[in-house]
Amino acid sequence: MTELKSVGMHAPRAGRLGSAGILMGGLGLLLLSACTDETVIEVERPFFDEPPAAAGGALGFDEASVNLTVCGNCHVGQQSGWEPTDHADAFDVLGASPAESCTECHAVTERGNASEGQIAFASTHDPRYQDVQCESCHGPGATHVSNPDVDGSHPLASIAVPVEDVDGALNGCAECHGGSHQPIAEQWALSPHAEAVASPAGRPECQQCHRGQQILEAWGEEADYLEKDDAEHQGIVCVVCHDPHGATHPGQLRFPVETPALEQNLCARCHNRRALPDPESTRGPHAPQAPLLIGDAGWFPPGSNIDPGQILGTHGTDRNPRLCATCHLPKFQITDALRPGSTIESTSHFFGPIPCVDAQGQPLPFSEECDLAPPARSYKACTGGACHATEQVAFSALTAATTRIQRAADDLLELLEQVDPNLGSAGGEISSGDPFTVADGALFNHQLATFGSHSGRGSAVHNPFLVEALLLGSIEAVEEEYGVSANRSVDWKAELQRVLTNARAAR
Ligand code: HEC
Ligand code: HEC
Ligand code: HEC
Ligand code: HEC
Ligand code: HEC
Ligand code: HEC
Ligand code: HEC
Ligand code: HEC
Repeated sequence: MTELKSVGMHAPRAGRLGSAGILMGGLGLLLLSACTDETVIEVERPFFDEPPAAAGGALGFDEASVNLTVCGNCHVGQQSGWEPTDHADAFDVLGASPAESCTECHAVTERGNASEGQIAFASTHDPRYQDVQCESCHGPGATHVSNPDVDGSHPLASIAVPVEDVDGALNGCAECHGGSHQPIAEQWALSPHAEAVASPAGRPECQQCHRGQQILEAWGEEADYLEKDDAEHQGIVCVVCHDPHGATHPGQLRFPVETPALEQNLCARCHNRRALPDPESTRGPHAPQAPLLIGDAGWFPPGSNIDPGQILGTHGTDRNPRLCATCHLPKFQITDALRPGSTIESTSHFFGPIPCVDAQGQPLPFSEECDLAPPARSYKACTGGACHATEQVAFSALTAATTRIQRAADDLLELLEQVDPNLGSAGGEISSGDPFTVADGALFNHQLATFGSHSGRGSAVHNPFLVEALLLGSIEAVEEEYGVSANRSVDWKAELQRVLTNARAAR
């Protein structure tokens, strides 16, 4: 038996995890109170069985039958958060007598943590090390458990996602989710989330969406981890979106993807910055995708009768319950890289909705290189449920909407150039500061429509009716306000009515 002098008690057993709620978040205090809690001290049993010498200091399960880890005896909150995750069942999926090569990532081993050489299950085959446990990510805990209060003993996990093994430094999620059945870490590494522009000049108000460390802090995650105080910038890493100890939401997500409540929606926590014009500046939209999707973005020209609640694009209604994730994390049936002959359903982590695909139909990273039409690109995400009948139909809808929107945007720009040739703060109708003019609002709508690094196609999908209506309403308002007129002679009012009618019919 191992002595735990610094604790001097028997920590709560599985049966007593009911008190977990109280214990979470105040571990120091809790241990203190537990030490003075007679009922806890009274229980006499070995704290846990001494681990095999070959285990490299890994402790594994205290009681494997109920998935109680040794760590979980004290860290009750993490234990109860981790227990319902798939990690806690990872060994079971291998069947009765798994091949050695399979157990590496399905049990506690040197994978996922900083250990080198074989440890735990790899060196002992002891069942106490089955499943992806705490020590898979945190590393062996024997030293820590004998001196839990000593700062340097804390086995911190890593949040970094290195994809290349530099001197055996491969660590964290990527050591199991990279080179694996499906290439999640590899895809993520090529996605914009991995690059996430190092936030300019370290401005904290920018970093809360652009820098992994600050995002976790802004979201109230105070945990320590290896890179916490690093100057080096972590992007939107796995642990930003996925909770290592929580299965509250499917896929271990920290926030759900299927809610239209923007403050609760995972993607909308960042993709929601300047969706409405700021009367104090001429700055255009910044990450307006979420409010645009649910119909709450842009400048609503007075008198245009566009009701913010009226145009809820079909893509942002309950006909598309998974919202952003439906399109941006499409699922593909791919060949399992570790099990020849098997296929596996893979969740694309490139985050591109209409990815270029290779000859086998497998997604490729974000790129403008390939033709926009299928089969060079996949429109698979559009054909799920009762949405678009075929990929070709979805592509045609995209082309039609983009063309209409682009044309209206060009008309509007032409008008705005008549009103204020410099289109900016060098003087004229469009300027930062008072008063906020019709031209200021109209320019914002133009930017919203043509927004994004992908030629405005995003806006044309996120809310085609709203974007078109805002442009048409803006054209009408600018013509009226400034007595200018567009080259193309169109009855803008009637056009706007047509769009509003179509929008209602599509709901
Ligand atoms: C005997 C009780 C006990 C056990 C068992 C235990 N810990 Fe701890 N752990 C503590 C205490 C006490 C602290 C210090 C808490 C504090 O400073 O707030 C701590 C701190 C930590 C921290 C650092 C938290 C932070 O915010 O800095 C990590 C990570 C951690 N433990 C992981 C583990 C892992 C992994 C295991 C299993 C290998 C484990 N612990 C087992 C008591 C324990
Ligand atoms: C490089 C690490 C790694 C190795 C080696 C590995 N796995 Fe996995 N396995 C994973 C990860 C990560 C997941 C879950 C996520 C995923 O599907 O990518 C998983 C999931 C699974 C699943 C459940 C998911 C499903 O839908 O099928 C099975 C079954 C499985 N693995 C079997 C095996 C077998 C059999 C082997 C040996 C041939 C093996 N694994 C080797 C990392 C690994
Ligand atoms: C030691 C290897 C290992 C490490 C390290 C690891 N995983 Fe896993 N992960 C697995 C295996 C194996 C599975 C499949 C378990 C199963 O299907 O029962 C899995 C499953 C998952 C799932 C699927 C959950 C679901 O509901 O489908 C998610 C999400 C996940 N891991 C995220 C992460 C994240 C984030 C990290 C890093 C913080 C991480 N994993 C680190 C091996 C690992
Ligand atoms: C923690 C903040 C954060 C979260 C959460 C987040 N993103 Fe992002 N996302 C960003 C940032 C920042 C960028 C810009 C990265 C860059 O280019 O520097 C980005 C880029 C993107 C891009 C690429 C845009 C382009 O112009 O190429 C897509 C697509 C995307 N995110 C979709 C999503 C989806 C879908 C979700 C939800 C599953 C999501 N994001 C969750 C912050 C976030
Ligand atoms: C899939 C990897 C993974 C697994 C499995 C895992 N952790 Fe963690 N843990 C992390 C990461 C990453 C962090 C830091 C970021 C965070 O907490 O979200 C962390 C943070 C912690 C902290 C610091 C919390 C704080 O508030 O300071 C403790 C304690 C901890 N883990 C204990 C555990 C215990 C106990 C288990 C098993 C029951 C466990 N972890 C399982 C990856 C993991
Ligand atoms: C911007 C947010 C975001 C980031 C960053 C991210 N994921 Fe995901 N991940 C998701 C979403 C959303 C899903 C879909 C969950 C669902 O299907 O319900 C998902 C699904 C998964 C799944 C489950 C696959 C399945 O089919 O069950 C695994 C495993 C996973 N991610 C691992 C990772 C790993 C490992 C990383 C880092 C290399 C990572 N994710 C980075 C958002 C993210
Ligand atoms: C509420 C979250 C949030 C905040 C705060 C935020 N951004 Fe962003 N930013 C994003 C998201 C999400 C994207 C990616 C989607 C997009 O381009 O619309 C992005 C994109 C960018 C891009 C374009 C990257 C590219 O490759 O196209 C730059 C530059 C940028 N932000 C700079 C900043 C600066 C500077 C600040 C602080 C003044 C800031 N951001 C604050 C969420 C945010
Ligand atoms: C109905 C499918 C669909 C839904 C739902 C969807 N998107 Fe998009 N998104 C697209 C398409 C298509 C593009 C254009 C991609 C291209 O041109 O490569 C795009 C582009 C983007 C871009 C690139 C910049 C831009 O605005 O054009 C970002 C960032 C983005 N989406 C984030 C999100 C977020 C966040 C959500 C949820 C609030 C979301 N998307 C919902 C299909 C969708």
